Amino acid sequence: MRKACGRIAWPRRPVFKTVPHPAPTASARRLELIREPGFGRVFTDHMVTIRYSEAMGWHDAVVGRRGPIMLDPAAAVLHYAQEIFEGLKAYRTDDGRVLLFQPQANARRFQRSAARLAMPSLPEALFVEALEQLVRADAAWIPQGDGSLYLRPFMIATEAFLGVKPSSEYLFAIIASPVGSYFKTAAEPLSVWVSEDLSRAGPGGAGAAKCGGNYAASLLAQAEAARRGCEQVVFLDAVERRWVEELGGMNVFFVFDDGSLRTPPLGGTILDGITRSAVITLARGRGLEVREAGYCLADWRDDARTGRLREAFACGTAAVVAAIGQVKTAEGDFAIGDGGEGALTAQLRAQLVDIQRGRSADSHGWTHLVA
Ligand code: PLP
Ligand code: COI
Repeated sequence: MRKACGRIAWPRRPVFKTVPHPAPTASARRLELIREPGFGRVFTDHMVTIRYSEAMGWHDAVVGRRGPIMLDPAAAVLHYAQEIFEGLKAYRTDDGRVLLFQPQANARRFQRSAARLAMPSLPEALFVEALEQLVRADAAWIPQGDGSLYLRPFMIATEAFLGVKPSSEYLFAIIASPVGSYFKTAAEPLSVWVSEDLSRAGPGGAGAAKCGGNYAASLLAQAEAARRGCEQVVFLDAVERRWVEELGGMNVFFVFDDGSLRTPPLGGTILDGITRSAVITLARGRGLEVREAGYCLADWRDDARTGRLREAFACGTAAVVAAIGQVKTAEGDFAIGDGGEGALTAQLRAQLVDIQRGRSADSHGWTHLVA
């Protein structure tokens, strides 16, 4: 419901209704499921849903039983892919607290993605409250040890209309999944395949938005990477096809023999990763130079051969910080260093994980206490 105040209209913040799952997963079964959950296959008992319509704004906020979503077969998301999502994790600390990592940053990126996809803006406070509500309802699903609860907020266009225009109705939802490592061989450096013909995003496109369409467009190249024995695909820029941009689901960093780091700049075609930004801050905090500057495939190959490039790593919420050991390309393969994990990669990961898990002081104010 919109209320008028002089000439300004503002949406009322919806009050959450909680409808607990009538028969939640038995604790013995839950503990079995979260012991070695892998990534993204195990789900908790609850979900959050909030509806949006042009007439009512955000309304009907519910924490309820997780289950299928009813959609009209003409719903706009099914035809024109008006969909965005986020990814962040809840951690259980050694002393039993529950922390989120920079949920406000995910809220703001969700707003930017929404703007690019002509979707309504979900207020930052409502996004964060929805996360807190779900994490509290499903706190028992947060794995101990190295695991975490991966949270997947998303928004879909639900108006039943086949004309091509922004939908007038949306569903925002959050589901939760207890996770371990994203990669099957967590301790091994990654092999990556450089896609030189298939692009992920171009200038003026939606590459900086976290929308499902970007991932759909990446799947053929990701499947090619898998066929070549690689865990991830590396995308190059779509114009010159030589500048390294990012991986299918992660940002990328390079570490040189003078101790400096480089990561591709945010130019609208890559995702503004929250882990990327944290890594830049942590590395600069160590007194290291970090350049946000282009790096081309030819230099990557040459620098790896001469030893000027010492380390390379991928980073993202799901992947955390993962060393890249082997690079495969149509012109041949090359290794980074001795193909093992570099020292700085390991140090940055440990530093980040210790903050995320509340094991070390959070001088940047990145963690958000939920319980
Ligand atoms: N780039 C892409 C394409 C991604 O899917 C992700 C993961 O969310 C990232 C980068 C890293 O972003 P973040 O660190 O915010 O998870
Ligand atoms: C994330 O890290 O949250 C992502 O969305 C990337 C995907 C590989 C799961």
